[in-house]
This record gives sequence, C-alpha cells and structure tokens, in this order.
Amino acid sequence: MSASLATVSYIGATILFILSLGGLSHPETSRRGNLYGMIGMTIAVLATIFGPRVTIAGLPWIIGAMAVGGSVGIYAARKVKMTEMPELVALMHSLVGLAAALVGYANYIDPAAALGLSSAEKAIHESEIYIGILIGAITFSGSIIAFGKLSGKIGGKPLLLPARHWMNLIGLVVVVIFGWQFLHSESIGAGMIALTVMTVIALLFGIHMVMAIGGADMPVVVSMLNSYSGWAAAATGFMLNNDLLIVTGALVGSSGAILSYIMCRAMNRHFISVIAGGFGTAGGTVVVASGDAQPVGEVVAISAVETAELLREARSVIIVPGYGMAVAQAQHTVYEITQLLREKGINVRFGIHPVAGRMPGHMNVLLAEAKVPYDIVLEMDELNADFPDTDVAMVIGANDIVNPGAQDDPNSPIAGMPVLEVWKAKTSIVMKRSMASGYAGVDNPLFYKENNRMLFGDAKKMLEEVFVALKS
Ligand code: TAP
Repeated sequence: MSASLATVSYIGATILFILSLGGLSHPETSRRGNLYGMIGMTIAVLATIFGPRVTIAGLPWIIGAMAVGGSVGIYAARKVKMTEMPELVALMHSLVGLAAALVGYANYIDPAAALGLSSAEKAIHESEIYIGILIGAITFSGSIIAFGKLSGKIGGKPLLLPARHWMNLIGLVVVVIFGWQFLHSESIGAGMIALTVMTVIALLFGIHMVMAIGGADMPVVVSMLNSYSGWAAAATGFMLNNDLLIVTGALVGSSGAILSYIMCRAMNRHFISVIAGGFGTAGGTVVVASGDAQPVGEVVAISAVETAELLREARSVIIVPGYGMAVAQAQHTVYEITQLLREKGINVRFGIHPVAGRMPGHMNVLLAEAKVPYDIVLEMDELNADFPDTDVAMVIGANDIVNPGAQDDPNSPIAGMPVLEVWKAKTSIVMKRSMASGYAGVDNPLFYKENNRMLFGDAKKMLEEVFVALKS
C-alpha cells in the first residue's frame, strides 16, 4: 500500500471514529456508532499492516500478537458479566498504559528512532518519550488498582496516608528534576536511569492516587483512567509519528475527560476533590445519617399481590431501575409488566439516573436489551418534576440514586448528589432483598417514609410474582 493511500485510509478511519462517538451519545444511534467504530478500526489496522512502515519480516510478529490479543479479547468479552464490565474496562486501560510505557522504552533504546534528528527535534522526541512513559505508567498501575477495587480484591475504603498531598507534590518535583536530567543525559545508559526512576515514581503515584479514592467515586476514576489511556495512546502516536494514533488518542482522552466531568456533576462532586481522594466507603457498611436526617418512621413491607393492586389502580407509574435490576437480570420481566400496564392505559415511564448501576449507561443498555421503547426511558432531569403527579414510583434494585438524605443531610457522604425524588409520588415501592445499604454505604431514609412500601426479595422473582398477580 502506498503512503498516500495509507494516509487517505487514516483520514477515513478518523472520520469514522468521530461518527462513532457521535452515534454512541444516544441509545437509538448507538448500534450505528459501534458499527462505525468497528469499520474505522478495521481500516486503521489494515492500513497500518499493509502501509509503508511495516516490512514483510515484521508481519508474522504482528499477526501473532493480533491472534493472541484477539483471542484473549474474544474470550474476555464473551465471559464477562454485564455487572463486571467496569472491571474489564479498567483492566483494558491498564494494557493501553503498559503499551504506551513499553513503546516509550523501545523508542528510546532504538538507535534508528532518533537518527538524523537535529538537537531541537531530539529534545522534542525525548520529551514525548518521557511524558508518554509517565502517563502510561500512571494509567497502568492506577487501572490495576481500580480493577482490584471494583472486583472487591482490594477493599473500597480510601487509603489516606498522612501528608499524602505533600508526597504527591514531592513525587512531581522529582519527576520534573529527572526529566531535566533525562533530556540532558549524554548516553542511553544515563537516560535509562532517569527513565527508570521516573517510571517507579509514576507507578507508585498511580497506585497511591487510586488507593486514596473511595468506593463511591470509582466510576469517575474509571472514566478518568479511560481519559488517561487516550492521552497515553496520543503520546505513543507522537513517539511513533503516527497521526491516526494521535487523533484517536486525543478523541478518547477528551471524551473520557468530558464523561468524567458529566459524572462528577451527576454525583455533585468536584473533579479535583475526586482526585484528591478520601470519599466514600465500601458498599454494605452503613454510614448512619446524622442529626435531623436520622431515619424516622417505620418500615412497611408489602406483598407482590398488594404491589400488583397498587399498580392496577394507578394512572401513572414511574419505574426507577438500579444496580439490583442488573444483578437480578430482571429487565425482561420489567418490560412484560410495563406492556401489561400500558395495555390497561396506564402511563408508564422509566427514570434513569446518570450513575445508576455500575457503569455509564448501564440501565439504558439493559432496557434496550429488553426492547423497552426509547421514548418512555427518560433522564432524571426530564422527569424529576413529575413525581408529585405520579401514583406509583417503583424502585427496582436501586438505593443511592433515590436517597433523600442526599438533599436533606449535609453530612451525608452523598450530600448534594442529585437524586430521583421518588418519595414525592403518592406511593413509592422499593424492591430489594433486605435493608442493606447501596454502593456508597449509606442508610436510606426513603425506606422509613410514610408513603413508602418495601417489597423484599430478589427483583426478578418478585416482579414475576407481580406479573402473575397482574394477569390474574
Ligand atoms: P446501589 O445504591 O448500589 O443499590 C443497589 C441495591 O440493589 C442494593 O441496595 C441492593 O440491596 C439491591 N440489590 C442487589 N441485588 C439485588 C437483587 N438480586 N434483587 C433486588 N435488589 C437487589 O445502586 P444504585 O441505586 O443503582 O446506585 C448506583 C451507585 O453505584 C451509586 O452510588 C453510584 O455512584 C455507584 N456507581 C455507579 C457507577 C456508574 S458509572 N453507574 C459505577 C460504580 C459505582 P439488597 O442487598 O438489600 O438487595
């Protein structure tokens, strides 16, 4: 393939990647977005393999690596459960970081890479290597820790070392000093010492940064590491002089940063305070609400038959799904009930919180899989004002995202996080197995409200019982 054809292919792939991101921003166009991305990536890989920079001798290596990587990817994608997706994503980010760091080292010790460069060009080339390895190493170790935390192999509690901000600052200063030494090193051997010291600091920084972040902020961290992996890829693109990698890396880097920002807003957190760490505890342990927000009232349980009765008498119903619906795989039964209610002329809509579940868009994916029409699936902001006119708000396996403490208790760990105001409906029904807390580990005063009912049990099992009762 000629150099110009490879360039044209790269431009085509870039356009497809941009269209892919555009498509992925809405459930209705997301399939098309995925398809654009797949075609773009196929073109990019083929144009690279058959492009002018790969020799015949290199082909077996590339094909071998693709076979190994592709098989691992297919195996992981087929095996992973929907609820384990964030762990897999974190693990994949770690590979991008590792690749960027390794490419940086290879580039530095490759005598051909800097051949014929002027001293200014050499300084730029070496800065790219230094920054690429720095971002890559932080992404690698940070993502491994994020994987450990998300999969429960490492506790979700934030690790708050004394003087941790000072430690980070000293690390940064040392990295800058060694960067200067690296750029002025006389030999590859001397440069390698500076690179190695910086890599160790970057790895420790990545570990420390994510260890300091509590369970409830992990979604933001994963999306932030996604952004880092993009910048690491862009840095690799600079090292390898590959325009497509630079553009693709920048697309991933900036979209990850925008997503992190949107998630921070959804959780009412400042990006800087997320990175500074120390927020959130492991799920399951309850942080009891303070002062006025201490739950008052009684928990009233309800049966599936009574739930069906309330639904049958309602004119309008809002269903709020959460992580528990994903665990129970109850989305199909939810839709069967929805169809039944709609046939009876009841207005049924779904309210989706931006961080419901365990990954962005988690609920949208599940509801789309169950074929719930997109026009009844609404964002939190679109229907929060409608709860006072709603007869029944049915919460399925959600907890933090419907916690009134976020509004009422300034001391709550989730204070200020926008929530779906289900308690404003005539009746709210919460479907979960016990009184246990959700991801953020905080008690939920909703369960004690006078107009709230608890339907205890596995979401799928309980919904099936409700469905049977509704049909009879
Ligand atoms: P959570 O607050 O985690 O609550 C889920 C509830 O589902 C639990 O309290 C649990 O109670 C219940 N549950 C679990 N399995 C169930 C089953 N089989 N049947 C019925 N109920 C079941 O979930 P949420 O309300 O969706 O809020 C999401 C939380 O996760 C937020 O704190 C968010 O910040 C965090 N987070 C979000 C993301 C993204 S990006 N979406 C990623 C990571 C973390 P029982 O044990 O009593 O059943």
